[in-house]
Amino acid sequence: MSSSETHRIAVLAGDGIGPEVMREAVNVLDRISTRFGVTFRYDEQLVGGIAIDEKGTALPPETVAACEAAGAILFGSVGGPKWEKLPPAQQPERAALLPLRKHFGLFANLRPGVCFPSLTQASPVKQELIEGGFDVLCVRELTGDVYFGEPKFLGERDGERVAIDTMIYKQGEVERIAHVAFGAAMGRRRKVTSIDKANVLQNGVLWRETVNAVAKEYPDVTVEHLYVDNAAMQLIRRPREFDVVLAPNLFGDILSDEMAMIAGSLGMLSSASLGRAKDSGLHFGLYEPSGGTAPDIAGKGIANPIAQILSAAMMLRYSFGMEEAANAIDAAVKGVIDDGLRTGDIFSGSPGTTLVNTAAMGDAIAARL
Ligand code: IPM
Ligand code: MN
Repeated sequence: MSSSETHRIAVLAGDGIGPEVMREAVNVLDRISTRFGVTFRYDEQLVGGIAIDEKGTALPPETVAACEAAGAILFGSVGGPKWEKLPPAQQPERAALLPLRKHFGLFANLRPGVCFPSLTQASPVKQELIEGGFDVLCVRELTGDVYFGEPKFLGERDGERVAIDTMIYKQGEVERIAHVAFGAAMGRRRKVTSIDKANVLQNGVLWRETVNAVAKEYPDVTVEHLYVDNAAMQLIRRPREFDVVLAPNLFGDILSDEMAMIAGSLGMLSSASLGRAKDSGLHFGLYEPSGGTAPDIAGKGIANPIAQILSAAMMLRYSFGMEEAANAIDAAVKGVIDDGLRTGDIFSGSPGTTLVNTAAMGDAIAARL
């Protein structure tokens, strides 16, 4: 028996490209295990469409149990055309991902929108606006807002179909996510852009007041408030001026896709969904690529595994306290990009670049570790 530290990971690869890119992330973790002398115990479980097919539900109880027993969840992606005709409440995205977030209290979603200087051609934004790279961290509240607010209703009223979703935030929910954003900004360029719609929504008024109150505890951090519509515009106009973007659940969902596109490819973007910090400073978390299942390329072995690999790095950092290992993975990814390796989503044929498949990209990253 080895005396090394052991970390249990619930591995939920899911659907579409999930299993292909997950294989590469596990490959990279195996390298980390050797190099840093830690043991990872992988508990592979079904989730999403494949779980519907094999067990009749998108989030089987044994999957939840495995997550509860683990120190972190490494998640692939769920959903696909095959399950789109199911009633909305049974579809993989709603029936697996949202309940997992709620069940584990994963209120803080960190989405780094990063475009390396050598990859700016992959961005659809004008080169002069993004030259030198783009590096924004979206801090999205993940367990409140109109996503989970009650009542929720779809049905008949007064002879007409009616839908109701409830947008609701408690001050405490805004405070805790604001602390995450300001804390992150302290380790970065010390600027927080807070997103709301305070000109229309009461939620926005509470959000802005609360963020301003929390900001007083971080005098070194500059705060800017933007209405969400204006933010969508400013992100495209002056992407490099953003550092941390703090957003409620729905607006964060929308703006983080925009940031992903500015950065070039969804295939590069990782994410961490974290619960409250433990006394150790570490968090239980769910780590997943920001992109989806990409059904158009699933099974072809050509998907970009980098988002999944960088998500594994975030897991090491936030759930296992392995900052050095996380940095090593980040550096290995940057290294292969600088070497010119490109999967299809980021390949533009520029000189010095080589088109590679999922496995070759994963192997090259692992080999640098
Ligand atoms: C995301 C996704 C999810 C969300 C969906 C799949 C429920 O779009 O993680 O951004 O809206 O939060
Ligand atoms: Mn989304």
